[in-house]
Amino acid sequence: MKTIGVLTSGGDAPGMNAAIFAVVKVAAARGVRVIGIERGFDGAIDGSFRPLTRPVLSSGTLAPVADIDLITGLGGTVLGTTRCDRFFEQAHREAACGQLQGIGIGALIVIGGNGTLAGAHLLAGECAAVPVVGVPASIDNDIGCTSDSIGVDTAVNTIIEACDRISDTARSHRRAFIVEVMGRQSGYLAMVSSVATAADAVLLPEVSKSEEELVAGVEKIIRESFTAERDKRRVLIIKAEGVPMSATRLAEEVESRLEDHADVQVRATVLGHVVRGGRPTYHDRMIAGRLALGAVSALMGGADDVMMAWNTTTPGGEPTPDPRVTTFPLGRVLVETEALLDGTSEITRRRVLRMQEVQGVLAL
Ligand code: F6P
Repeated sequence: MKTIGVLTSGGDAPGMNAAIFAVVKVAAARGVRVIGIERGFDGAIDGSFRPLTRPVLSSGTLAPVADIDLITGLGGTVLGTTRCDRFFEQAHREAACGQLQGIGIGALIVIGGNGTLAGAHLLAGECAAVPVVGVPASIDNDIGCTSDSIGVDTAVNTIIEACDRISDTARSHRRAFIVEVMGRQSGYLAMVSSVATAADAVLLPEVSKSEEELVAGVEKIIRESFTAERDKRRVLIIKAEGVPMSATRLAEEVESRLEDHADVQVRATVLGHVVRGGRPTYHDRMIAGRLALGAVSALMGGADDVMMAWNTTTPGGEPTPDPRVTTFPLGRVLVETEALLDGTSEITRRRVLRMQEVQGVLAL
C-alpha cells in the first residue's frame, strides 16, 4: 500500500483536524503517501483530491505538506465535509471507487459519525481494491462500540462554559433558564453537561415525555426552587435538541403558568452550532492522534471494513498495541449504533437508569 486517502464526512467535530494531521504524520513516517479527499464522500465521487504529503527529494523520504501541523488546534475540518445522500446509491459508490483507484489510493480512512460509518461499510463491501477503516468522530457520542468519539469532550466543555456564563446572569436576575444543546437523537451531551454544571434538571429524548409532562415538570422545579425557604437564585434546565418541544415554547408555556410568581422569568437559550465549533481539548486531540495511529497501522496490517474504537468501558474488539484502542467490524458498530439510538442497547438503558437516579439529586 503506497497511498492512503483520508476524508471527513457528516457533522464536523472538534479534533477531526488533529486526526487528519496524525494520519499524515504517521503515514509519512512509514513511507506512505496521503491524499486528502475534500467534502467527504462527495469529493470521492467527484474526484476532489489534494496531496497531504510531499516527497523530500534530498533524502528520498516523505514529509507532510507545509503547515499541516497548524491544523491540529483548529476546530471543524480543513478537508471540508458534507452529508452525502447520493453515496447511498450504488452507482455513486462505484464512481467513488473508480476515482480512488484512478488516483492511486490503495486504502481509505473515513473520519465521521454514524451516517459516515454506514457509507464506509457499504464502500468496503463493494470496492475490494480499497480497504476502509473508520475513525469515530461525532459530538453526539452516539456511535456503537466506542466509549468516546472525537469531538465529544470539546462539545461538553463548550456547553459547560456557556452554562457557567448563563448562570452568572441567571443568578444576578434570579431567573430560570432552559438551555438547549445539540443531540438530535442522543441526549448524551445534555446528560453529562447537566451534572457538570449543577443543573436542576435534564430533558432527554431517551426518556419520552408528553408536552404536558415537560411543562409541569419544569414548572414544579422552578416553583420549588424559588420559594422563600429554598431561596435559590438560578434554575438551569438542560434540554437535548432531540426532545421535540422547542426550548422557546417550553419557556413561554412554563412562564405563563407562573403568573402568580410575577417576579419569576423563564428564558430560553439554544446553543445550536456553537456546541460543535471551537478548538479541540487535549482529550479530543489525544484520542484523535491515537485512533489515527491505530487506523494507519490497521490498514498497513491488512485490515478492512473495521472501525478504530476508544475503549474505556466497551468490552471486546480486536486488541492493538495501544491498550485503549481496539478494532471492531463496521457491521457490528452499525448494529450497536442502531441499538444505542432506538434505546434497545444495554448502554442506553444504563444511561437512562443512571440519569433517573441523578434527576432527584439535580432537583434538590
Ligand atoms: O453532528 C451531529 C449533530 O450535531 C446533531 O447533534 C445535530 O442535530 C446535527 O448534527 C445538526 O446538523 P446540521 O449541522 O447538518 O444541521
